[in-house]
Amino acid sequence: MSHEDLSFDEIDEIISPRAEETDFDRVVDTALSRRGFLGGVMTFGLGTFLVGTTALTRDALADGDRFGFAAVPANSNDTITVPDGFEWEQVVAWGDPITADAPDFDEATRGTAATQAMAFGDNNDGMSIFTKGGRTVLAVNNEYTNRKIMWGNNPDGKPASDDDIAKGMMAHGVSVFEVARDDAGNWQVVKDSDLNRRITPQTDMDLTGPAAGDDMLKTAADPSGTTTKGTWNNCGNGETPWGTYLTCEENFNGYFSAADEAHEVSAELKRYGVSSKDWGYGWAKIDDRFDVAKNPNEPNRAGYVVEIDPFDPTSTPKKRTALGRFKHENAAVVLAPSGHAVVYLGDDERGEFLYKFVSHGIYSATGDNSDLLENGDLFVAKFNDDMRGEWLALTPGTTGMSDAEIRIHTRQAASKVGATTMDRPEWVAVNPTKAEAYVALTNNKNRGKKPNAGGDDTSANRPNPRVENHYGQIARWMPDNDDHAAQGFNWNLFALAGNPDVHDDEYAGSENINSGNMFNSPDGMAFDSTGLLWIQTDGKYSNEGDFAGMGNNQMLAGDTVTGEIRRFLVGPNECEVTGICWSADRRTMFVGIQHPGERGDSHFPGGGTSVPRSGVFAVRRTDGGLIG
Ligand code: FEO
Ligand code: CA
Ligand code: CA
Repeated sequence: MSHEDLSFDEIDEIISPRAEETDFDRVVDTALSRRGFLGGVMTFGLGTFLVGTTALTRDALADGDRFGFAAVPANSNDTITVPDGFEWEQVVAWGDPITADAPDFDEATRGTAATQAMAFGDNNDGMSIFTKGGRTVLAVNNEYTNRKIMWGNNPDGKPASDDDIAKGMMAHGVSVFEVARDDAGNWQVVKDSDLNRRITPQTDMDLTGPAAGDDMLKTAADPSGTTTKGTWNNCGNGETPWGTYLTCEENFNGYFSAADEAHEVSAELKRYGVSSKDWGYGWAKIDDRFDVAKNPNEPNRAGYVVEIDPFDPTSTPKKRTALGRFKHENAAVVLAPSGHAVVYLGDDERGEFLYKFVSHGIYSATGDNSDLLENGDLFVAKFNDDMRGEWLALTPGTTGMSDAEIRIHTRQAASKVGATTMDRPEWVAVNPTKAEAYVALTNNKNRGKKPNAGGDDTSANRPNPRVENHYGQIARWMPDNDDHAAQGFNWNLFALAGNPDVHDDEYAGSENINSGNMFNSPDGMAFDSTGLLWIQTDGKYSNEGDFAGMGNNQMLAGDTVTGEIRRFLVGPNECEVTGICWSADRRTMFVGIQHPGERGDSHFPGGGTSVPRSGVFAVRRTDGGLIG
């Protein structure tokens, strides 16, 4: 396999090989049979399902179908499939201009660094919509690039020049642009809007919070340790009640290398998967910042949540060190009854942790909240077997580390307090109708086999009950006193993905998984305003073996009261479905399609022999009705 074919989690495995765990008995003891988890782990969940079945019948009789759509069968078609009575249209795709003076996407050249800097980036992921003064802005993450497609115009599919490398770099970051419906009712980019902006790995940023100015953040270019350039590998997102966008830096490590590949990186950087090897992006060749031998502190300046004002294109994005440094998936913001801002944060790597930030300041509906995320307390989750859990504080007292160290070496801090190792925490979603939150634990082939990158035990545990978990699960927690700032919570599993056609043990999945709705690797997740949970997948799409009957990656909706899950959308070949938001009138749902054709088998969305391109798509009811 060439570097271009490796996913970031495959790179993690190569950078940080771990010994096989030998204490297999311990794993077997804690792994639960299908019967076992229904009787144990699923006690709360099963009870909910039973109560819920009654509720579903009652609701169905009183109000009609809770979902409002008929299930879509799994398929492996190279298009988007939505239920009868729904339609979809393309809003924007990789390379489309988002400024008035940028040229249209050119299939033959696939653009230049200069045109890419004025165009929608590649591999769109999390996104939010903002409406103010009658104007609507989409802020969309561009996580990484499909290198074989980005440079597919070159004979070997590799960068042929420094400009090719820079083009790939400029396809990362965030695309912010105004959208509006045209006379035909279709959503279009307003190309000449003064709000449009590309944020790239070269955009000026401020470093804020407890780690700002620390020696570990200082470089030759920034001796103050308070300003930096750029953001990249922007995965999931969040939005704040005060109208800002949060973009989350995930696999930031994969872009650093050293001209001298024999250079040994520090143990602190190794925990984050930084290495001296070039994984194919080549950024160190054109910018010394990415040469970890020359600038060993530069990786400490990435791996944060970045706050952006979507309505001020001249504003400087702020990296929020208070929210910790790790492979950030998304940032789910909710206000506690006290007015403190609570942010739930997942660290997406095998056996890493789930975090919570609670602001020191209080939200004010009329005041200035622009620095509410500058200071606060950071916690990491411990899930106990008795279905209780607690948020463990990461402080100098609990970790023996300074406040700056805790925010920069957050993984090490969490390991010290004995947090629960998780099956790759992806998105967290907070229910707007009830005090509860959900996390997608996408999969973990190392569960019960290898410790995490910090050497922590990853034996099966109750929230992560299956060894070599290749299907994933969704866990949820209910904070004490309905207060997201509370230290304690109850928890249970909402769903264990699985394949009941292939397995009759715990890999069949939980009771709410069946032949008609099965999926693997839940990833993106968001609640709509009615309390329906939308689940997007980034999993295996072979449709064979363990994954037979699941088809392409997809999006489903979950009724969190009854436990029922229903498939809504199937994506094109080899894509991941990720990124979701709704228009202010709730009549359009925007959905992201990432990396169609990542292995060469798609021509979506153009069809024919066109270059496959990631993009944002608008889904509506054909009758113009509400959708979420
Ligand atoms: Fe970018 Fe964990 O997904
Ligand atoms: Ca994801
Ligand atoms: Ca993913």
